[in-house]
Amino acid sequence: MSILFNEKTRTFHLCNDSVSYIMTVLPRGQMAQLYFGRKIHHSEDFSHLLEFSFRPMTSYLYENDGDYTLEHISQEYGVFGSTDYRDPAAEIIHKNGSRISDFRYDSFLIQKGKPCLPGLPATYTEDDSEAQTLTLILKDPVNGLMLKLFYTIFSEGGIIARSAAFMNEGPEDLHLSRAMSLCMDLPDRNYEFVHFSGAWGRERHMKTRVLEQGIQSVGSVRGHSSHNHNPFVILKRPDATEFQGEAIGFSLVYSGNFLAQAEVSTHDETRILLGIHPHWFDWKLEPGETFQTPEAVMVYTDKGLNHMSQTFHKLYQTRLARGYWKDKARPILINNWEATYFDFTEERLMEIASKAKSCGVELFVLDDGWFGGRRHEKAGLGDWVANPGLLPEGITGLAQKIEDIGLKFGLWFEPEMVNKDSDLYRKHPDWILKVPDRSSSHGRFQYVLDFSRTEVVDCIYEMMEKILSEAKVSYIKWDMNRSITECYSAALPADRQGEVFHRYILGVYDLYERLTSKFPKVLFESCASGGARFDPGLLYYAPQGWTSDDTDAAERLKIQYGTSYCYPVSSMGSHVSVTPNHQVFRYTPLHTRANVAYFGTFGYELDLNKLTEDEQEEVKEQIKFMKQYRRLFQFGTFYRLKSPFEGDGTTAWMVVSDDKKETIVGVYKILNGANMPFSRLFLKGLNPDFRYSNSVDGRTHYGDELMNAGLITTSINAGQEIPVCDFDSGLFILKAENELSI
Ligand code: DGJ
Repeated sequence: MSILFNEKTRTFHLCNDSVSYIMTVLPRGQMAQLYFGRKIHHSEDFSHLLEFSFRPMTSYLYENDGDYTLEHISQEYGVFGSTDYRDPAAEIIHKNGSRISDFRYDSFLIQKGKPCLPGLPATYTEDDSEAQTLTLILKDPVNGLMLKLFYTIFSEGGIIARSAAFMNEGPEDLHLSRAMSLCMDLPDRNYEFVHFSGAWGRERHMKTRVLEQGIQSVGSVRGHSSHNHNPFVILKRPDATEFQGEAIGFSLVYSGNFLAQAEVSTHDETRILLGIHPHWFDWKLEPGETFQTPEAVMVYTDKGLNHMSQTFHKLYQTRLARGYWKDKARPILINNWEATYFDFTEERLMEIASKAKSCGVELFVLDDGWFGGRRHEKAGLGDWVANPGLLPEGITGLAQKIEDIGLKFGLWFEPEMVNKDSDLYRKHPDWILKVPDRSSSHGRFQYVLDFSRTEVVDCIYEMMEKILSEAKVSYIKWDMNRSITECYSAALPADRQGEVFHRYILGVYDLYERLTSKFPKVLFESCASGGARFDPGLLYYAPQGWTSDDTDAAERLKIQYGTSYCYPVSSMGSHVSVTPNHQVFRYTPLHTRANVAYFGTFGYELDLNKLTEDEQEEVKEQIKFMKQYRRLFQFGTFYRLKSPFEGDGTTAWMVVSDDKKETIVGVYKILNGANMPFSRLFLKGLNPDFRYSNSVDGRTHYGDELMNAGLITTSINAGQEIPVCDFDSGLFILKAENELSI
């Protein structure tokens, strides 16, 4: 990995074995993008890649410099209004009302490793040799605004992490009305735009559109990254597949409002913008103040989508997630939500926990309803003290009882919310986000606390800290169950109201930072009505997230498959629940529910007492199995083999251990058919020379056979595929022969 600078041509070349990123200072000081893609040889001069050419009806910057227009030159961080007509990376409003900016190259800095972003989650290095960071310093000569563009190249993989910082070094207040984390101009539009969209209960369904002239975008203006769209998009070449071809993944390490946009000009240049959504964003920068954008991570590959995903998985697992749990296999948990909802007593919780313990579960999680007056959705949020009528000895007592039967104890919070029927709201009605003299909308009868205010975050911290200090709590599920409306803070002046959405998220990060620092061994799982904040920002604090409230196995195939394009298996909260399923009322076999949930953190969301004895025995076997293989599931290399978004919905995926000696393949059927065709799966990532034994038929096959001739998944006795009824599934465990004795 290196960052090369050619002084004569003022060209920067960031490269490692996988990728090259080249940019140059234009004659008049703007920064131009020259190349981003597969690694190419370094050359002293790449200036021929700039195409200055005359086009009618184009605006030019200088009368004496005929072809100097920014409209057709790929910009590093484009601004609107001075010949570039594309949506810009930044927009600054000056005191005199002007919106023109002109950032010119001033200097640069190259450093080993990667600096942190103050107050924001970001990828990091553990050793300076893992990455290098280039900081480009640009200045606007008119208003004294300094712009720093940060680029980190990691030693391995086609990864470039970017962000920007604005420093007001001038004499006047400025307003940033747009400050994207990344602007990337590519010279053609021969791409498909892939995004992951949905709604509550069907998060991150993969959507692919052909890139066309004009603007295509996804985003969130709901105050959280949302169920609806994820801050992750892919540009892929039309011929790229899971296993070959070029793709670039763009991921924003942020949990609030975001915009991911592709704009194709009518000359077929493509601009990608990724960052905080400019809608309602207006950040006042007084002289001496700095604004730092969140980080955006780009991953380039020429080896297909699986390879891109694997690069993200490894980066996010090892250099975004932090702390005690990031590399550890996750405890198998039982959560009482779908078992009881609000209707529980301590005795009932203990019954659920005791049965779970006898089946091999390791962690009991008490979900919503244990605090204040919370016996239904309309009361209690904000009062983080145990309800003495329910839990006479408080959380401390219950946690101890759970520990005494040999389980760890976990607890649900929804720190950012308040019900009007709560002591907190009665004491501080002005602590919610609300506009003076206007009514406030609710979501699930709850209101959003103004986390842009430190005193609000302090108060919630104190309540949570007290519980965690007094009780043996090993795990926290941090929920967030509504989108923001009437976004206004009573604590900020009129000209800073455009900062509230972002300041809110900074408050959330602050609380996470304080709690995870004070309680480093507590495992945090993020949640937002299922997966409404399943984003890299929260992965920095919570190494796992509740993927979706939809626990139906068939639905989960799509959700987990879509999620896997960016996020590792170790981050996906996945539980076995009852049938009929509570979200779609479907019956699926118990083994299929587990076969899906194994490809995640694994747990149960039911009362095991209510299962038949046979089912309980099956659960015991499942837990035993997961304990044996959870490291492989959660930290092996994950491959998508067959997409639930295509064909008949049959899904297949697999994980391979680092030494390639073990692999588990999951095959899942939706509807069965009569007299089905023969079927086989072409496995990936095996050692061609290892001979693998197949757990299903006991036969052994070389890795090259399994990858090229395929693994036969047709059932020999039924003439059907291995999954032989609706929603059936099968796991194939393949072990390299010399490992059979283990
Ligand atoms: C939404 C979560 O996604 C559920 O798992 C559960 O915790 C409920 N909230 C509790 O209110």
